[in-house]
Amino acid sequence: VVVVHNGIVENYLELREWLVSEGHTFSTETDTEAIANLVAWSLRRGRSLHEAVQDTLERLEGSYGMVVMAASEPHRIIVARQDSPLVIGVGPHGRYAASDMPALLPLTRDFVVLENGEHAVLEPQAHRIYDRAGRVIPRESVRCDWTPEQAEKQGFPHFMLKEIHEQPDVLARTAFERCLDLEGDVSFEEGFGLSDAALRGIGRLRFMAMGTSLHAAMIGQQLAGALARLPGETLNASEFLYSAELEEGDALTVVVSQSGETADSLRALREVKRRGGRVLGICNVRGSTLAREADHLIFTHCGPEIGVASTKAFFGQVVALYLLAIRLGRARGVLDAAEGRARLADLRGLRHRMEALFEPPALAAVRSAAEFLAGVRSCLFLGRALQHPVALEGALKLKEISYIHAEGYPAGEMKHGPIALIDPDFPVVALVTPGRTYEKMLSNLQEVRARGGRVIAVAASGDAKAAASADFLLPVPAVPELLAPLVTVVPLQFLAYYTALLLGRDIDQPRNLAKSVTVE
Ligand code: M6R
Repeated sequence: VVVVHNGIVENYLELREWLVSEGHTFSTETDTEAIANLVAWSLRRGRSLHEAVQDTLERLEGSYGMVVMAASEPHRIIVARQDSPLVIGVGPHGRYAASDMPALLPLTRDFVVLENGEHAVLEPQAHRIYDRAGRVIPRESVRCDWTPEQAEKQGFPHFMLKEIHEQPDVLARTAFERCLDLEGDVSFEEGFGLSDAALRGIGRLRFMAMGTSLHAAMIGQQLAGALARLPGETLNASEFLYSAELEEGDALTVVVSQSGETADSLRALREVKRRGGRVLGICNVRGSTLAREADHLIFTHCGPEIGVASTKAFFGQVVALYLLAIRLGRARGVLDAAEGRARLADLRGLRHRMEALFEPPALAAVRSAAEFLAGVRSCLFLGRALQHPVALEGALKLKEISYIHAEGYPAGEMKHGPIALIDPDFPVVALVTPGRTYEKMLSNLQEVRARGGRVIAVAASGDAKAAASADFLLPVPAVPELLAPLVTVVPLQFLAYYTALLLGRDIDQPRNLAKSVTVE
């Protein structure tokens, strides 16, 4: 019996004890081995593989996306899903199973998504889906509009590098068709489903997400405040479950997730709905659980993101959140048509301005900063306002692929503790872009330098003051303040990439990490 299992069997100790009493032996401490033994137990009693898996599912408590095979029925695979994602690929030469669609794109673009509590029998030319009671569920396959080429490196040495370079296209695909340039407004597709009246009725926003998507969500909250005057909060989705159960009232919760399968974000979504609230999902994967369970939807059009370190997905999320903030501002009468037009023109103009980020002088600057950073053990990323989440994101990128310890902080916090760490071996990466926070950031740099700290500054190209306060300057084009995160994040992604490259790390699949975190 072969079992592939993603999830956690919560009652495995109990099952294991019973199986041992039935004469089974275990060779690992894993919960998954209990599943294999349960299937074997039923097979030995004359049950077919399908029946044996059905018997097993009845005994399991917890979460699973699983695939089961047995030597006795080599032409058949049984798959089952409870709280962990599972898709079935339907191809001319076979049926396939995976946690998400990108994994199967080289084989097929037609998919059937399994719902919670369902299982399926796969044979080379057929598949049947069953509910918990064993009734057959008819379901058409859906066509994924991603191409297999999008899931290939296309000449880049790593997916991460390819995905960083795709960001200007992500801007065009996620935004441009939605921009109503003359009206100064934004039009989302049908799945958005929030009328002007509904948008006017929202009293507050709550953003929730995990990891990189959480950083995009923090920016989204600030954009909605600036462009639609809507109050909001941003919560780590895994913490929401423990928050006091207050009235949802006129709140709208925005759940941001690239994969749409992050277990913590999905738990939070379900909890909001249980409390009577409404959820708008911002998601990159059609057919994902978030896309199916959210009340309202905005897709980012990033294409498949394969590198574990999220880059273009963050970019697409911030673009989508910027559009959402404009739509909210227009519907609520905070932005007039002229202001809306100006904000959209800023966004369209960004594509051209971004080009400098990928040109040799910018990349040479990043590479020389990376050579320095590859030699340190720990560092600090600082930013204020919209650049605070970018600082958190830069630190996350660096730590997850280079394994160098990095912390992101709002720069104002520095004097309240982290400044004690500053010395020549503990550098600071600072976001010093034009706008309300510029002068304060400059004085933070002075404080770091006065204590012997080294500074890598991300600043507007040609900014002499920032250059004078930094050991390394990563130049970015000057853009309107609200869009600055979309340019400053790019050198930080490159910085993490080149540092990890110098250290010989496994960039696309860093240790201990998975692309989609489908267990809590
Ligand atoms: O698929 P999601 O956007 O929900 O994923 C959330 C996080 O797991 C993800 O952003 C993670 O932090 C990345 N590895 C960061 O690069």
